[in-house]
Amino acid sequence: MEQIYQQIQELKKTRRAVILAHNYQTPEVQDIADYVGDSLDLSLTATKTKATTIIFCGVDFMAESAKLLNPKKTVILPDATASCPMAAMVDGESLSALMDKHPDADVVAYINTTAAVKALADICCTSANGVQVVKSRAAKQIIFVPDRNLGAYIQKQVPEKDMILWPGVCRTHHDITTDDIKTLHKKHPAAEILVHPECRPDVVELAHHVFSTNGMVKHAKTSPAQEFIIGTEQGLCYRLQKENPGKTFYSLPKALCENMKKITLEKVLKSLQTLEPQIELPTRIMQKARVPLQRMMELS
Ligand code: 13P
Ligand code: SF4
Repeated sequence: MEQIYQQIQELKKTRRAVILAHNYQTPEVQDIADYVGDSLDLSLTATKTKATTIIFCGVDFMAESAKLLNPKKTVILPDATASCPMAAMVDGESLSALMDKHPDADVVAYINTTAAVKALADICCTSANGVQVVKSRAAKQIIFVPDRNLGAYIQKQVPEKDMILWPGVCRTHHDITTDDIKTLHKKHPAAEILVHPECRPDVVELAHHVFSTNGMVKHAKTSPAQEFIIGTEQGLCYRLQKENPGKTFYSLPKALCENMKKITLEKVLKSLQTLEPQIELPTRIMQKARVPLQRMMELS
């Protein structure tokens, strides 16, 4: 492990590369990364870096977003098969058909979408800024893709909008039940319950707070609570524990995103050696998909 760590550090300098890792990555990948964060934070970091190569340790839509925001940089996803199944639940053709039925609606695309879907959207959002983004739109009707749980959460915060929700879900979050949370809370009654807005509405209702993954990191630092139940992908608990050694975090073992775990140190090293596999997108899609992402960045 020490040897591969050293090799990555050295090659990173030669390649003028930066390593970005999502909060759900394995402990060893989080430890090798220059920045660990949520989707919004990593997109912002990608636009600020002076590095010429971005090694993105996450899933495809995240690396694609980094490429859209940095078309001249080399963006590498160390395992090309690391994809978000929820992002695959909506395609451009079906979204276009829905848009035809609601010509006055604005389209808000969660960042967890393909570039082809982003290309049809008015603006993107992440779990950290979804409420702000929907509020910012002039249209009353909003088509929201693809996560219906996040959409329902936003709709509750922004009742003045009329949201048409796409029927997608993230299984990692949707499969967390109120019973899972209640069982853990019975064992740890002093624990604060923090959940991600991709969880189902009854789970969101049960929580003390609803946050993006970085929102949970910030809250855990400042909350007087000493124990927390974490209703999101379990990988976040490594970062939470590392940054708050005196506090205790209870994860849900079933909340696992297998795609997030496909990135390994060996694959990161190989990516730095070969500069493959790179994110490549058709120029036309790139030009169109960048616009809603940039609109979101301007709001952030
Ligand atoms: P965050 O932006 O909150 O990190 O969420 C990303 C994601 O994929 C949640 O499943
Ligand atoms: Fe996609 Fe869910 Fe995995 Fe996030 S946790 S990358 S939404 S499948």
